[in-house]
Amino acid sequence: MKVLVPTDGSEHSLKAVESAVALAKHEHAEVTLLAVAYTAREDMDEMPPAIHERLEGEARKALERAKALFDSEGIEVKAILEAGFVPADNIIKKAAEGGFDRIVMGSTGSSKPKGVLIGSTAAKVVAGAPCSVTIIR
Ligand SMILES: Nc1ncnc2c1ncn2[C@@H]1O[C@H](COP(=O)(O)OP(=O)(O)O)[C@@H](O)[C@H]1O
Ligand SMILES: [Mg+2]
Repeated sequence: MKVLVPTDGSEHSLKAVESAVALAKHEHAEVTLLAVAYTAREDMDEMPPAIHERLEGEARKALERAKALFDSEGIEVKAILEAGFVPADNIIKKAAEGGFDRIVMGSTGSSKPKGVLIGSTAAKVVAGAPCSVTIIR
């Protein structure tokens, strides 16, 4: 079973990572972490390069935090960093192209105040994914 775990470094996404660790451990799932460094398309031209670097740094940090949970269990994991405009589009495309069987992700992420039931990335992925999606909350 190939499992894709999109992560933005948020608490919820780390819960999803933990459940993917369990899938790897108990069901021998082959896990790939994906962090999307994203920019709103309309801001693109005006953004100084330093901001791109910062966004990429945040995505890299999210991957490192997630990967550490696998490393501490001695479980192999792949980690992919992508740049994009809409994280859900990257996630759906990766799931399709990589032939993933399942996506495991958080119900919310880092961009909304508490109380939101489901984040926009999670909602879009559930609606458009080519495979089953497990939402962790
Ligand atoms: N940029 C991203 N790269 C990879 N995964 C992401 C990204 N943003 C969100 N996710 C995934 O989607 C889940 C839900 O986040 P999201 O829908 O963006 O909620 P919010 O609107 O609260 O930020 C996160 O827990 C994470 O698993
Ligand atoms: Mg978000």
